[in-house]
Amino acid sequence: MRKTGLIIAVLCYIFVSVPAQINDSAFHKKMEWFKDAKLGIFIHWGIYSVNGIDESWSFFNNYISHDDYLKQLDGFTADRYEPDHWAELIQNSGAKYAVITSKHHDGFALWNTEYGNLNAVKHSAAGRDVLTPFVDELRHRGVKVGVYFSLPDWSYEDYTHHTRSVIRYKPESDPERWEKFLDYYQGQLRELLGKYNPDLWWFDGDWEHSGEEWQVDKVRSLLLKKNPGVILNSRLRGKGDYETPEQGPPVLRPAAKYWELCLTMNDSWGYQPNDTNYKTPQQIIDIFADCISKGGNLLLDIGPKPDGTIPEEQEHILKELGRWTDKHKEAIYGTERGIPYDHYYGPTALSKDSTLLYLFVKGNANGQLTLKGISNKINRIWVVGNGTKLNHQVTSKVFWNKYPGLAYIDLPAHLLDKYCTVLAVLLDGPVDLYRETTGAIEKTL
Ligand code: GLC
Repeated sequence: MRKTGLIIAVLCYIFVSVPAQINDSAFHKKMEWFKDAKLGIFIHWGIYSVNGIDESWSFFNNYISHDDYLKQLDGFTADRYEPDHWAELIQNSGAKYAVITSKHHDGFALWNTEYGNLNAVKHSAAGRDVLTPFVDELRHRGVKVGVYFSLPDWSYEDYTHHTRSVIRYKPESDPERWEKFLDYYQGQLRELLGKYNPDLWWFDGDWEHSGEEWQVDKVRSLLLKKNPGVILNSRLRGKGDYETPEQGPPVLRPAAKYWELCLTMNDSWGYQPNDTNYKTPQQIIDIFADCISKGGNLLLDIGPKPDGTIPEEQEHILKELGRWTDKHKEAIYGTERGIPYDHYYGPTALSKDSTLLYLFVKGNANGQLTLKGISNKINRIWVVGNGTKLNHQVTSKVFWNKYPGLAYIDLPAHLLDKYCTVLAVLLDGPVDLYRETTGAIEKTL
């Protein structure tokens, strides 16, 4: 009897747990490129750039009428649009993927959709598909393709919400009408899937309906069936693969294994010439280093103008970022989250085998840096992107306990990067952090 029980238990283990583990490791495998990528560029491009107003929300919140909002279609010319230049700028910034708004909540589609009339080809001054050439350029350069897609479509007549004050109907009050909307939006998804087979889908606006109403399970399996390796963000009523904190650089380390901070360069997603509250390259690099240190990605947004050019301030940030990422690539791509801030007053990252510890040194903090409570022997320290070997001194170490002491590292001013210097600390093995109370007498004298 006991033997039968054991056999059943073993079979259960094989049939239940093992496939689960296989799935789990397949999941981590598919997330690998994303985790290693660290930097993506978000692009909000749509008719809202014409007046320079909030994307979609400006009419939803009744700051402008829907009719006046749509008049912007006539100003969306794309006549100076150079998708190859966009892709080049993105690649040179050090980003490994880009996510572009194929359709925001206003329902304006950048590609030639057969569903509805509101798109760049049929109803804008551009008169052409502006999405396909950009996707082609990204592919050409080996930059991964992410497609942003808004589930809500506030312009579509069979969608429930039109503005904050005008709700057309509720799905339960008119299921047939809701079905029509589902066919419409899922039809668009099928088009995008067929045309671009994206590496990543970035959904938005899921808050307006439940997972059952959106049919998220159906959508997820539709996308995964075509491309089992595809990555979905979490805004699919929790049926996605990674978290998307928005605007607020995390204070604490997010609990999620995979996450990405989406962040504007000023305070707007789309082009708004009136918004001059730009973050400096220094601030953006600080935030980026903090994301790396906390194990996440940065998805940094640009908002091109209606003629297709990228605002000068945004190009400048991308170029400055590119100079920094290129110099420090070994400390950025493929690294793991760093050590707790207790051990070093700043962001850090670790190599995959955790024998190399990278220290990010913000701004012009020359002099001596302190590493605290690292039990490993330090074999060598050098400046990333430059190679200069640095001296260090270990103090506060006594032979009668395991407290590893403080390592003071000399960093001369002439070796500083304009924004953020990175030091590589080669340890004698995987990083070993001392997390005990100090001062215990463990050996007699
Ligand atoms: C929000 C907003 C939207 C913006 C997005 C980017 O969900 O609705 O306007 O595109 O965040 O993360």
